[in-house]
Amino acid sequence: MNRDTFEPVIIGFTCNWCSYRAADLAGTARVKYPPNVRLIRLMCSGRLDPTFVLKAIAGGADGVLITGCHPGECHYLEQNYKALRRYHLLKRTLAQMGIRPERVKLVWASAAEGVKLAEEITTFIEEVRALGPLDWPGMTGESIAVAPGFLAAEEVGV
Ligand code: FES
Repeated sequence: MNRDTFEPVIIGFTCNWCSYRAADLAGTARVKYPPNVRLIRLMCSGRLDPTFVLKAIAGGADGVLITGCHPGECHYLEQNYKALRRYHLLKRTLAQMGIRPERVKLVWASAAEGVKLAEEITTFIEEVRALGPLDWPGMTGESIAVAPGFLAAEEVGV
């Protein structure tokens, strides 16, 4: 893939009660963010099974954005703390797999923070663009070792 024309594919998991509404608000207010992100609505960030993220990456996503209600504001009490713990676990798991953990990001956004969410989405897309394409399913052996989007073997600890 040509890095000059690379357009990152981002999967964004949103919470029904906050970030999904924030994205909706951004649209209503005509606040623009790049079309690279595909949003998937969950009822709560705590519903995010880590396998959803791995499946997104295995399916061709270059980055995954996880969003939820601010700490203390989850509609299901403390489920976003569960999401936070899973996020940290996911980052460690990705690093063990040789994938840069920066390809996954967690953002808190209330329903009123459409502008903030749009800015976070835009920033994350540019961060992933700088990492380059992941192309995980197409990568094997030596090609992973030299690919810019992957951690070097010594960084993984093998
Ligand atoms: Fe939004 Fe739980 S209801 S993170």
